[in-house]
Amino acid sequence: MTKSITSTSRRRFLGGVGAAAGVAAATSSVPTRFAIGQQAKIKVGILLPYTGTFAALGHNITDAMKLAINQAGGKLGGREIEYIAVDSEADPAKATANTNKLVVGSKVDVITGPVHSGVAAAMVKITREEETLTVISNAGAGAATGEMCAPNIFHTSFTNWQPAFPCGSVVLKDGHKRVVMMYWKYAAGFEFAGGFRDSFVPGGGTVMKEIQVDFPNVEFQAHLTEIAALKPDAVYVFFAGGGAAKFVKDYHAAGIKIPLYGSGFLTDGVLQAQGEAAVGIKTTLHYANDLDNPANKKFRADFKAATNRDADVYAVQGYDTGTFLVQAYAAVNGDTGAKKQIIAAMEKATIDSPRGKFTFSKAHNPIQNIYLRQVKAPGQEVFLGVAHEALADPAKGCKMA
Ligand code: BEZ
Repeated sequence: MTKSITSTSRRRFLGGVGAAAGVAAATSSVPTRFAIGQQAKIKVGILLPYTGTFAALGHNITDAMKLAINQAGGKLGGREIEYIAVDSEADPAKATANTNKLVVGSKVDVITGPVHSGVAAAMVKITREEETLTVISNAGAGAATGEMCAPNIFHTSFTNWQPAFPCGSVVLKDGHKRVVMMYWKYAAGFEFAGGFRDSFVPGGGTVMKEIQVDFPNVEFQAHLTEIAALKPDAVYVFFAGGGAAKFVKDYHAAGIKIPLYGSGFLTDGVLQAQGEAAVGIKTTLHYANDLDNPANKKFRADFKAATNRDADVYAVQGYDTGTFLVQAYAAVNGDTGAKKQIIAAMEKATIDSPRGKFTFSKAHNPIQNIYLRQVKAPGQEVFLGVAHEALADPAKGCKMA
């Protein structure tokens, strides 16, 4: 395993650079540290999956982030940008080495991504210690802005608890009291299950069984047979990307008529591939394609024009990450050394997002609406209403909250 340099060694290193620059400034007419730095490109590190079950998610986040920045002039705080992307492969076992490539190797000014909560856990362990500005553009890992929270770490996406929590009440309101849950067996799956339980159980619901599937396994058949035998009133699941497409098709092919619920990741980005099989599914998420606001209409048209693909929640999160970076660096005219001021600007930011305007909590998570959606016809998912307005993650364990 690649070892990160320690914060003391990094500070010593930074101190050395500062001292050297100070000597140069004192003995010649060399410009100040900021002026020198201002000529260099801002390094934006991107740790996202471009292969595997989450590949499409990584591409949409990346392309939409660049779209937002390009629409703002293609610079951050007046400085050119060097994007340095590493394929995370959504593999937690490679996450430490991949993060170190960006943080220690390339010395990025800011790191964005990842998709997978296990990758995020390894990433923030390093960036917290190195004090590298970190903008999580998908992974909902609660720990990143919970017990591991730090001034330099932000979610522009969600926490796994957020889209899950309102769904328990939705299922109860639909008259279902006995549920089977099924999810990938890693941090995100556990947190989605936990969020759902937090509203479902106190509301009078019973979780009959939780079926856990190793990530990124998509062999669902035996589990579907078990679900059919258990005869719950409803099923709540967390799968995303290629795994979600396969799960929904297998569920349908197995002839199971039990109502299916999930976080919106079950259908987002894979709705066309699921076709008829997805009809009837209800999900909760911080985005819906048909949200009636000007930012959403413009974004969907612009993303389609730029990529020839339809926007989804991942693209929205990438786009909002781009907007967030544009605002933060504009506040300091591109001075990457002004970390305190950058963080202050981030904390105060309001993002006029396609998901609706949102701000940040003390723990650095979006305070955002969670929407209820339903697939009404093949490839057609509609917004049914707001499942929870302005929901903030409880950020358990975060000392800043
Ligand atoms: C996660 O690992 O946090 C995650 C992955 C895909 C979609 C949503 C969450």
